[in-house]
Amino acid sequence: MPLWFEDYLLKNFGAALMGSDFTRMMFTTFVVPKTFLSINMFPDKPGVAPDAIDFIAPFCPRKRLFVVTDGYAIRFCDRITNAFEKRYGFATHLWSGALPEVPLESIDDCVAEMAAFEPDLIMGVGGGSVIDSAKVAWLRYERPDMKKIEEEINPIFPLGLRKKALLAGVPTTSGTGSECSPTAMVTDTAAGMKIAIVHGELIPDFALLDPSLPAAMPPELTAGTGLDVLAHAADAVLCPAANDLTDAIALRAIQMIFKYLPRACRDGRDREARYKMHLASYMAGIVLSQAGSGITHSMGHAVGAVFHIHHGMTVGLMLPYEIEAYSYVSDKYMEICGALGVKARDNRTSLLNLVKKIRALMKEVGVPVSIKGFGVSKKDFDAKFEKLVSLTMSDPANVIPGVYLLTADQYRTIYRHAYTGRDLNLDTAL
Ligand SMILES: [Fe+2]
Repeated sequence: MPLWFEDYLLKNFGAALMGSDFTRMMFTTFVVPKTFLSINMFPDKPGVAPDAIDFIAPFCPRKRLFVVTDGYAIRFCDRITNAFEKRYGFATHLWSGALPEVPLESIDDCVAEMAAFEPDLIMGVGGGSVIDSAKVAWLRYERPDMKKIEEEINPIFPLGLRKKALLAGVPTTSGTGSECSPTAMVTDTAAGMKIAIVHGELIPDFALLDPSLPAAMPPELTAGTGLDVLAHAADAVLCPAANDLTDAIALRAIQMIFKYLPRACRDGRDREARYKMHLASYMAGIVLSQAGSGITHSMGHAVGAVFHIHHGMTVGLMLPYEIEAYSYVSDKYMEICGALGVKARDNRTSLLNLVKKIRALMKEVGVPVSIKGFGVSKKDFDAKFEKLVSLTMSDPANVIPGVYLLTADQYRTIYRHAYTGRDLNLDTAL
């Protein structure tokens, strides 16, 4: 059976219809979690005003909290479970076995423990992989009849979730936006491929944003996750599924990233920078969910998978190429130029200045601007070149509604430039 995004009807008609101007004019949804932002998100005593816990508790009649986390983020979980236990008498259960990249089989234990505990609130506390693990475990808890979700899920048809529990996301990094997205990235270990599980009902009910949690990220991870945020926001402006709501949020997020990411990388204890980057990450996650992602992600996923490079760094690396490639069909990049105060005598020069500004940001936060810069030899690059192209062509980011579809030859051209970090030749056809 094919994976859900290989379904012929969905791929050829559903995606085109959902990404069309006509459909968006007729029907635009904007679904976001109930959102809380605070530097002391989980106090164990009531404060002077109602807080997130006061708001969430009434939604949980059985008061049973199941926390999904990993070996790193478990350090934050005591104060979370304490707060729910002390203030509202929740019974709590912690599962800390989430793994990077979410191998599908890795959450079998989690699903079994969840089914035995019968929670009415599930909380993912961690980075994107943890929250994605929580999403998939929650989906399997709610729908035990679905044996192979990667084949059976279909974003067009209802799943009927939330009959047993609600979902909350507590990000401990500022990057993936999983706490507000309809996507869970998982890995089919046997097939050696990443699969995006996508459904609107997977958008969490609550997003709890505490900027003190990502404050422990080292500079390299801060830079990588920050560039992921930049790519999400820029994709949301540049992709054809953008709308006025998403533009407003995405452009503001881009301004915040350029101002605060270098500060957060220089000094992880800079509270204002951490706060703003955590919020920007959430804002970019919202618009990513609405407007989709572009070739930053289809190409970035492939580069990351083949050469084992951090996701955020690969999508940041591909962002200048997305801007250049999409400039053949749209001048939407001028809105990013406007938000960042990039001015020039004509659009072409503005575009080149914008690309320079992005690469300058990457250099400032210590991220290479070419595939070669990550230590990939030319021999290795050439040997894996066609694999890169085929992974890019089959990436879910190529079928999620609202993307510009490129040909394999166009991807080859971009990859050849990206190896050394050269700009595309905009005077010739891509
Ligand atoms: Fe991303």
